[in-house]
Amino acid sequence: MRPSVYISRSIAREAVGIIAASCDYRIWNNDQPVPAKILEEEIKKSDGVLTTLSDQVNVAFITGAPNLKIISNMAAGFDNIDIGAATAKGVMVTNTPGILTNTTADLAFALFLAASRRLVEAENFLRSGQWQAWEPLLLTGRDIYGATLGIIGLGQIGSAVARRAKGFDMNIIYCNRKRNHQTEAELGATYASLSELLSTSDIVSIHCPLTAETRGLISYGELALMKPAAVLVNTARGGIVDEGALYEALLHRRIFAAGLDVFSQEPLPLAHPLLKLPNVVLLPHIGSASIATRTKMAIMAASDLVSGLTGKIPLHLVNPEVVREYPTEKS
Ligand code: GLV
Repeated sequence: MRPSVYISRSIAREAVGIIAASCDYRIWNNDQPVPAKILEEEIKKSDGVLTTLSDQVNVAFITGAPNLKIISNMAAGFDNIDIGAATAKGVMVTNTPGILTNTTADLAFALFLAASRRLVEAENFLRSGQWQAWEPLLLTGRDIYGATLGIIGLGQIGSAVARRAKGFDMNIIYCNRKRNHQTEAELGATYASLSELLSTSDIVSIHCPLTAETRGLISYGELALMKPAAVLVNTARGGIVDEGALYEALLHRRIFAAGLDVFSQEPLPLAHPLLKLPNVVLLPHIGSASIATRTKMAIMAASDLVSGLTGKIPLHLVNPEVVREYPTEKS
């Protein structure tokens, strides 16, 4: 019998084709996320599910799905899935690492420039007819070149950001769970504690995953360590930054600006106080949103899903212990 699959959002046609070749599938063909109740019901009927980062797959969804073998998450992050519950039940979980690294690093850099050089404010100024004359001090910002960049989390994306920073003659410091000797040697990056990094960086860029340890990592105390001229950029996960604390810091100009692509609640509610501030650039979680990268992510997620349902070991398992305990045929 062909495996039964649920796809929680419209994805690239090529990816749907990969699933259709060996599975029966149902798809939530809608621009809005599938409601939690429908997702839960659909997972109950499925052998495999392809999810996106806006689907919260909690313990009840996993324990209530008798045939579920694999959750393939079309994202590098997987904090939206209860990995512990999946592993306990022998359900494979996969993600899409690597292929979005450069696209996301590009966006982090776009935010460095936009927030430091006040690009959005400047464009709004022009479009609203306020540009009367060239002025020596009009919309002056902070230089990127030669600045000190503090990278929190020097994994694949953090390292790709560091490589770009080299081209801007930036000094790179980083903190990470483990030292990354290769990137240190390659880019002259210096390892630092979080507090050293915060107090010496001109730009602080977040690239660590959201975990129990990193939730609320940047709050009042951490923001107070930053230089008044510094810029904070977050393209990782919203929950890593305490947004109330950041709002206060930006409002009282305790830091210069921020650039955010991710929020603790997405979509960011329109009434959110951050929207009232001129010194923050706000993007709707588009870190990996190039046509090529989103297509590759969908294909990777679909291929892993099919592998997991046809007796092969998916290439991007985040809980490989499941396969060791419930062996499948080697791919
Ligand atoms: C995007 O945020 C991802 O984790 O892929």
